Amino acid sequence: MKNIVILISGRGSNMEALIAARDAGDLPVNIAAVISNRPDAGGLETAARAGIVTHFINHQGFAGREAFDAALAECIDQFAPDLVVLAGFMRILSDGFVRHYEGRLVNIHPSLLPSFPGLHTHQRALDEGVRIHGCTVHFVTPTLDHGPVIIQAAVPVLDGDSEATLAARVLCQEHKVYPQAVRWFAEGRLRLEGGRVRLDATMAEGAVLISPEVH
Ligand code: GRF
Repeated sequence: MKNIVILISGRGSNMEALIAARDAGDLPVNIAAVISNRPDAGGLETAARAGIVTHFINHQGFAGREAFDAALAECIDQFAPDLVVLAGFMRILSDGFVRHYEGRLVNIHPSLLPSFPGLHTHQRALDEGVRIHGCTVHFVTPTLDHGPVIIQAAVPVLDGDSEATLAARVLCQEHKVYPQAVRWFAEGRLRLEGGRVRLDATMAEGAVLISPEVH
């Protein structure tokens, strides 16, 4: 069974979706640890309640990005993860860190990349007037919110949407696509090869279009 380490900074609802999928027998992974750079990340308590080893490494206690990333990598590597899963981890990672985990570092971003990298994606989508929005799971490269796309889910932007209603619609899809992407990896059906995603999956498994429950 593959070992994964999950990195969080906040509430950890994507982490929770991964734990729930594992508990339901839908995700054959060992969640070896959950690591946060913030002591007040709500997800730390959720993980501990689920019996998962948790660690907190305060980025403010380090001289610079490289020093923090080195300590973070040291903590992660004691669990010998096959995959490191960024789930709302709000830190820009140094090139060296990203290279160290090449092909085994994934992220979820709340937009249809390459549109809207960075923060405030839902408000920016509303401001631009896009009709379709969504989320993306991708392998991480040194460029922020960039990298070969593994799976995306699209949702409609509805008349009268606020940032909160749109975020909620997207989050619901995040909780489906992230376990799916990690499942593919766990089953040995997903890998990064020459900078491109190689996926052995059917259209039905991979094609997440406009979320069907939204009318
Ligand atoms: C999610 O919207 C994710 O896409 C983004 O940060 C948010 C984290 O939410 N990277 P949660 O902590 O998983 O609830």
